[in-house]
Amino acid sequence: MRRTVLVALAALLAFGGKAACAENFPTHPITVIVPFAAGGPSDAMMRILAERMKTTLGETVLVENVTGAGGSLGVGRAVRSAPDGYTVGFGHLGTNVANGAIYKLGYDLVADLDPVVLLPSNPMIIVSKNAVPAKSLAELLAWLKARPTPATAGTAGAGSGSHIAGLYFENVTGIKLQYVPYRGTGPALNDLVAGQIDIIVDQTSNSINQVRGGNIRAYAVTDEKRVAQAPDIPTTDEAGLSGFHMTLWSGLWVPKGTPKEIIARLNDAAVDALNDPAVRRQLENLGLQMPAKDQLTPEALGAWQQAEIAKWWPMIKAANVKVE
Ligand code: MLT
Repeated sequence: MRRTVLVALAALLAFGGKAACAENFPTHPITVIVPFAAGGPSDAMMRILAERMKTTLGETVLVENVTGAGGSLGVGRAVRSAPDGYTVGFGHLGTNVANGAIYKLGYDLVADLDPVVLLPSNPMIIVSKNAVPAKSLAELLAWLKARPTPATAGTAGAGSGSHIAGLYFENVTGIKLQYVPYRGTGPALNDLVAGQIDIIVDQTSNSINQVRGGNIRAYAVTDEKRVAQAPDIPTTDEAGLSGFHMTLWSGLWVPKGTPKEIIARLNDAAVDALNDPAVRRQLENLGLQMPAKDQLTPEALGAWQQAEIAKWWPMIKAANVKVE
């Protein structure tokens, strides 16, 4: 009898404790793990959002870059963190969809994480170093086809957005690429500007300023409509690669088992940031596209991730990507 009362009491205390934690969340800084290098597109977007999220949460939101293995190391760190809301994982089509079809992750992208919110998406852009003798996508494809050896394409590692975009590009053009992995497309872009690699199928938000500066050349964006902030760059349909469409969407996840109330607080803070006109201007100026209002619930991200897994895994598995 005494033992049962003690067990019940302990459970009550634990529940009480958890409820109290959720109620007072947050009481200290929150860390968002970005699985790619600082200065790249994922990092840039998350730092803009984190700055505004702290207003709603009343606590600092730190960004920690944990890089490697196409972002799977950073996501793994988030998966293994305490389900208390203080560690949040940034991810995208690459890390939270593609990597599940490429790596033996040691965690399950759906079963071990709870979705928080869908973040802006990024049309991809085909860019090259300025030394490439091509002024249009047709000329670029001819140059790539005529090369005796595959051109070098910068990526953020196997499974990353830039790698999946490269695989898709190979798929629709029949052109083989030699991938050069970096810890993010931030450092890859530096090497493209320096002429060390030939091309990147990059996120527009990463390359747009270097294109504007004339330091690299852009050929097309992989969206059905032109990017408002770069109206002179044609779409792949207009440039002769019809149907080659891809936008890289991102999101936030927390370790499985994080209390629903805490997920709701984090979701509120992210939605407030996305609705903030100054934040929207910063993100849209990079060519980022805001998610639809009805797509901003945790459930919407969960459903979207599952749909994207069904869509992309067949192509990725067929590419038979080799990782150590
Ligand atoms: C990055 O921030 O470096 C990117 O998200 C990498 C990628 O997935 O291509």
